[in-house]
Amino acid sequence: MRRPSKRLIITFLLCLPVGFALSWLMMIGLGITLRAYGISTLTIVAILNAIIFIFILDGPLNLKTFEWPDPVESEEEQNDNARHFLIASFLTVVIGGGLALWLSNGNFYPIAASTQSVPIDNLLDLHFWVIGFLFALVSVFMVYSIVVFRRRDGDDGDGVYMHGNAALEIIWTVVPLIVVFYFGYLGVTNLNEITAPQPDEMVVEVDAFQWAWNFSYPEYGDKKSAQLYLPRNRPILFKMTSRDVLHSFWVPEFRVKQDIVPGRTTELRVTPNRDGEYKVRCAEICGLAHTNMLGDVVVLPPEEFEAWATGQPIGGVEVDLASLSPPERGQFIAQAQGCTSCHSIDGSQLVGPTWLGIYGREEELDDGSVATVDEAYIRESILQPHLKLVAGFGPVMPDVYANILSDEDMNDIIAFMQSLSN
Ligand code: CUA
Repeated sequence: MRRPSKRLIITFLLCLPVGFALSWLMMIGLGITLRAYGISTLTIVAILNAIIFIFILDGPLNLKTFEWPDPVESEEEQNDNARHFLIASFLTVVIGGGLALWLSNGNFYPIAASTQSVPIDNLLDLHFWVIGFLFALVSVFMVYSIVVFRRRDGDDGDGVYMHGNAALEIIWTVVPLIVVFYFGYLGVTNLNEITAPQPDEMVVEVDAFQWAWNFSYPEYGDKKSAQLYLPRNRPILFKMTSRDVLHSFWVPEFRVKQDIVPGRTTELRVTPNRDGEYKVRCAEICGLAHTNMLGDVVVLPPEEFEAWATGQPIGGVEVDLASLSPPERGQFIAQAQGCTSCHSIDGSQLVGPTWLGIYGREEELDDGSVATVDEAYIRESILQPHLKLVAGFGPVMPDVYANILSDEDMNDIIAFMQSLSN
């Protein structure tokens, strides 16, 4: 049986500190902090560097760190085998490591905007190393064998009979097992870290429905908003409910994601740590306008959040409803309730009829009759959405607004629709 000689192990251990030093330099050269690079990545790169050193010592420098004590093969064959093994291993290290470095430094994910992003991104980077190594291990040895050991002209002989190798089989069973357990351990500790209750959490209630979001802030007298405003560096506990079907709360920049289940309250913890504007996306197919189920997320410095939460306007986004005209109020309500996720106001075709120019129009219904879009028709269609469908549109509007919109709300929405027809 072939096994690495003691010399190889000693050489590897001697090369390791050099590998670490080089890994550290690569990290600095790439401008990555150790926290983002990760101790595990540092170690993996160090080991790869040490292996590359061994190949250099064994190849160009000819220090014979490998020993092949199989007496059956001639010295020439042994050297041949060693050469193939070294070349294929070298290619595996270079291609696998290169792929992993490219994946983990290629800016494939959106900006990280929460403290929860750090352990998640580190874990993903570590996965890239495993992905890179496994990809190279399979493809390099396969392509190398196909090219180098291909059948030559006139070669009709059989291949060499190879018997099993118990040591090799134990290694390729035990090593992946340890790796899987190690990743399991990392997964559990990471999940613990990102779901652990934090001191001074602010509860934000999330109300999800087809096809929009509403947020309320119990700490600020149940203040409600269709945009999600959050203070920077304060741990947030989202308590989420759905009015109708499954949805899923996902802000890619925060990394974490949680399903919202009708009849249950699910929780999600996020500590935003970067000011900016993001989008909350629904990540669960929830009906025709699932892709339109987007909400604005604004992370503000704590003082600015406080100012917003206690009612002062910020950039004209938050409004005092009483100070608005009925059409303006209607537009605000229509956006907050998600009407405009399905009914465009610019004439474009979404799930429902556009509101542009709809007021006063004669619409053909799906039973062939004609209805005039007036106040009575709109009110009836909000309260009983499936009663009189405009031809070409399905019965997809949620039958919930009778419980949500007041009479005044509906008047304001109708005023807004009228303003789109003038
Ligand atoms: Cu809600 Cu998809």
